[in-house]
Amino acid sequence: MTQGLTASGWLFLVFGWGLILALTLYCYSRVLFGRKPGAVVEAGGREQWGSRLGLILAVAGNAIGLGNFLRFPVKAAANGGGAFMIPYFIAFLLLGIPMMWVEWTIGRMGGAHGHGTTPGMLALLWKKAPSKYLGALGIVIPFIIVIYYNFIETWCLGYSWFSATGKYFGHANREAMGQFLRGFQGVESNAFFSGLGPVLIFWFITIGLNFYFLYKGISKGIEVLAKYGMPLLFIFGIALVIRVLTLGAPDPAAPGLNVSTGLAFIWNPDFSRLGSASVWLAAAGQIFFTLSLGQGIINTYASYVREKQDITLNGLSTASTNEFAEIILGGTIAIPAAVIFFGAAETQTIAQGGAFNLGFQALPVVFQKIPLGQIFGGMFFFLLFIAGITSSVAMTQPAIAFLEDEFKWKREKAVKAVFAVLVVCSAMVIAFFRFGFLDELDFWAGTFGLVVFAAIEIILFSWIFGLKKGWQEMHKGADLKVPGVFRFILTYVTPVYLLVLLGVWTCQDAVKEFLMTGKDPANRPYLWGARALIAVLLLAMIVLIRKAWDRKGRRTDTTA
Ligand code: ALA
Repeated sequence: MTQGLTASGWLFLVFGWGLILALTLYCYSRVLFGRKPGAVVEAGGREQWGSRLGLILAVAGNAIGLGNFLRFPVKAAANGGGAFMIPYFIAFLLLGIPMMWVEWTIGRMGGAHGHGTTPGMLALLWKKAPSKYLGALGIVIPFIIVIYYNFIETWCLGYSWFSATGKYFGHANREAMGQFLRGFQGVESNAFFSGLGPVLIFWFITIGLNFYFLYKGISKGIEVLAKYGMPLLFIFGIALVIRVLTLGAPDPAAPGLNVSTGLAFIWNPDFSRLGSASVWLAAAGQIFFTLSLGQGIINTYASYVREKQDITLNGLSTASTNEFAEIILGGTIAIPAAVIFFGAAETQTIAQGGAFNLGFQALPVVFQKIPLGQIFGGMFFFLLFIAGITSSVAMTQPAIAFLEDEFKWKREKAVKAVFAVLVVCSAMVIAFFRFGFLDELDFWAGTFGLVVFAAIEIILFSWIFGLKKGWQEMHKGADLKVPGVFRFILTYVTPVYLLVLLGVWTCQDAVKEFLMTGKDPANRPYLWGARALIAVLLLAMIVLIRKAWDRKGRRTDTTA
């Protein structure tokens, strides 16, 4: 399997890159040179984005995360390389883009009625009591994800420091790097680390930065972070892509291991894999995760858009920016670099071990073997950190917005309250990490939960609220007329695609996961603990929603 890019591999690469570049250029040329936004209607005194570019960068920052640089290359490599791009692009077109427009529409509509989170938003789509409780998922899912995502973000910050200072240099093998990682995570005490002290220092910094940007608010915090963070991320990403593409064949003893072999691993298509349902599921799952769909967080960001401000072109621009970061940057850094130094067979084993093995064990070895490795390593992990923090603030924002909008709390008070709970929950993730606590939360919230919530959203939007009204709502102030074929896609294809996905996933994975098949019995109490935490958070949210609506009811009675 040490062959270079084949003709079909080239074709897939050129087609994939070409499509994304064309889409991105189209969107940005229209955003930058299209018509100026028309008169705006203020959204009920709520906070708003400061500028259109700031908004697009913030929502793109929301979507671009660790998923683009670690999860995507691993999924592509494990599911047929270039052939994975077929179900991936189909899912992008039929699930990703339509759901992006739906979530922006639901979000802006909610914001215009004073609701920044999905309980209030879903209640506008379906005026029956259960809808607001279903909306609890759009706050609890991102909150659960962020309590472990912060921990991974911490590793990125730590590794950026360790790379720049050369702490792990001189141990250029995966075994040593595995020990280094486990030591840092607090899973074992070893020659590199003997306690949780270092990880806790980076964790405090990570939590502190998240707190700072959220405390500052939408335009002064989140938007500022995106305006500086996103360009920096793209500069670092492009520099790293150029570094990988100019590596040549660095090991004279293995001239067959070169850039072409590295790219071949991602792009040479293995068509036999297209017959497997799991490849299609993996592609759809990746689209959801990477575009931040089914989490309520696109909705919350869109709620700060003014009522007549465009969302169709902005939504498409966000999606294309994310895909640029995913396919062109994400697909060209981690996996090709690993193949060039480890060979295809070992990279396959690494990829099967998951995104963390690739990112935190294999790549530190690569950085030790290339010139200026400390700088490139520092850049790579800092890029991951920026990608992470612009997503984690987005995942925390719904809980804050809920307290502000539905209980009329001041932002500062809401941020403090949410962080108090967040810190306690994140500390549990750190303490129980070695028992699989993080993976359990990730499966139920970060994999399964997204699809459940997206299915609820599309059904309420297209079938209950009705696509006719939904389409009108989507096109208020629109700079881009969505092609008519999307009426059909939104009414039939996206909901059915999602329901089938949910059905197959439930049978294939969720039941197995629920029964803890193949899990170490010693870890089971902790996995039940993770489930209990999810249940408690959901229950607490439902109680809060009930309280908020009771208060509103009383307020309406008094006013009446
Ligand atoms: N969309 C975010 C990511 O890709 C969550 O990591």
